[in-house]
Amino acid sequence: MWGGRFQESTAASVEAFTASIHYDSRLYRHDIAGSKAHARMLSRQKLITGVECDAIVKGLDEIEAEIERGDFVFKPELEDIHMNIEKALADKIGVAGERLHTARSRNDQVALDIRLYMRAETKRFQSLLQELQRSLVRLARKYQHTVMPGYTHMQRAQPVLVAHHLLAYYEMFGRDRQRLADGLVRINVMPLGSAALAGTGLPIDRHYVAEQLGFPKVSANSMDSVADRDFVIEFLATAAMIQLHLSRLSEELVLWASEEFSFIRLADSFCTGSSIMPQKKNPDIPELIRGKTGRVTGNLMALLTLMKGLPMTYNRDLQEDKEPLFDTIDTVAPSVSIMSELLAHLEFNQERLAQSTIGGYMTATDLADYLVRQNVPFRQAHAIVGRTVAYGLEQGKELHEMSLDDLRQFSEHIFDDVFEVLSAAGSVNSRVSIGGTSGETVAAALELAAKDLDLQ
Ligand code: ARG
Repeated sequence: MWGGRFQESTAASVEAFTASIHYDSRLYRHDIAGSKAHARMLSRQKLITGVECDAIVKGLDEIEAEIERGDFVFKPELEDIHMNIEKALADKIGVAGERLHTARSRNDQVALDIRLYMRAETKRFQSLLQELQRSLVRLARKYQHTVMPGYTHMQRAQPVLVAHHLLAYYEMFGRDRQRLADGLVRINVMPLGSAALAGTGLPIDRHYVAEQLGFPKVSANSMDSVADRDFVIEFLATAAMIQLHLSRLSEELVLWASEEFSFIRLADSFCTGSSIMPQKKNPDIPELIRGKTGRVTGNLMALLTLMKGLPMTYNRDLQEDKEPLFDTIDTVAPSVSIMSELLAHLEFNQERLAQSTIGGYMTATDLADYLVRQNVPFRQAHAIVGRTVAYGLEQGKELHEMSLDDLRQFSEHIFDDVFEVLSAAGSVNSRVSIGGTSGETVAAALELAAKDLDLQ
């Protein structure tokens, strides 16, 4: 393969060790798209003839069809996808095929292929996340008026709407979509024409290649172009964040599906049983999503470690960028889509939620806010309510179960209207601050979300 320079052929063990074709073959479509654009540019610049260009394009189209039909034989001794396709082309069309690699190196070629691949994957991820957000909003609408306990420190804190809780995840995945869009700006830069590292003396037209492939920009520095994988790291970080968000949601679903919480029911079709315990119905999907967060985080660490200390410019180490990238894509994409499906097969147990919003003195802050409205300084109000809760714990009474006289032992600023703020519903609906959980603010948030997602 290396022509004249070598006197011995490559050792079989070396071939096996260095080959990447068993995983980089997935880049074939992008490799071919890049080569066609490159050939057309070479022809326009009179570096090859129009006839040669046509033969190259036709040959590449045939190779693409062969790969798609499963008829193409990938050869490990040809190392990678670039050499496999180039050799097949030369075998097919002869000398014109041998002109394709003019003014190009595999170093800029692989950078182009990854960028094309990641551009397509970024767009797919954006629509997967949008679908997940739609599932969240549909579920939130279904339980728009259902109240549940909100938690801090995993202790019941204040009542909130189920819809408000779900919309918290809508926000997270919205930020992930923004991160993807932002990363795309840096993916969408055309590196071809950087050649091995220093550019080329042949009269190429990089802008024409970029134009054909839909890149808004060409890379500015040939050395950076072949050495840069920042955009891969960024994508892996974004993907790790997506999986982390899925994992937090999964953790809540696992808890909520437990007998102890019984907040939700997952459809049988989305659970599995136990091989020994006949009574079990296990939430394996959210558990696996949570578990897969480890490898996705690991893939990010792998790339960060891979890049640390690499001198300019291309080093063969860079071939190690692909497996973590592919693994992350193959892990996160199905996690997002199965979570969307799972949410469509989930029911909240409204009775149980109603019960669980009653206990736990969750309207204590509302009582304190009530006192603030009566002009009691908040710190004093906090202490008054603290004493009231202590009394309640002693007497076995929730705040709303106390009489007015009970309550007035602790402050003379408490009147008959206090009971309006002591119910879970009253508490929820009082929280009209921007971003709060009142029915009104949540309805507006749902409407905005539906508009963003084109939901009817
Ligand atoms: N398979 C290589 C990679 O993924 C392609 C570039 C190889 N370049 C080289 N000079 N060996 O990085």
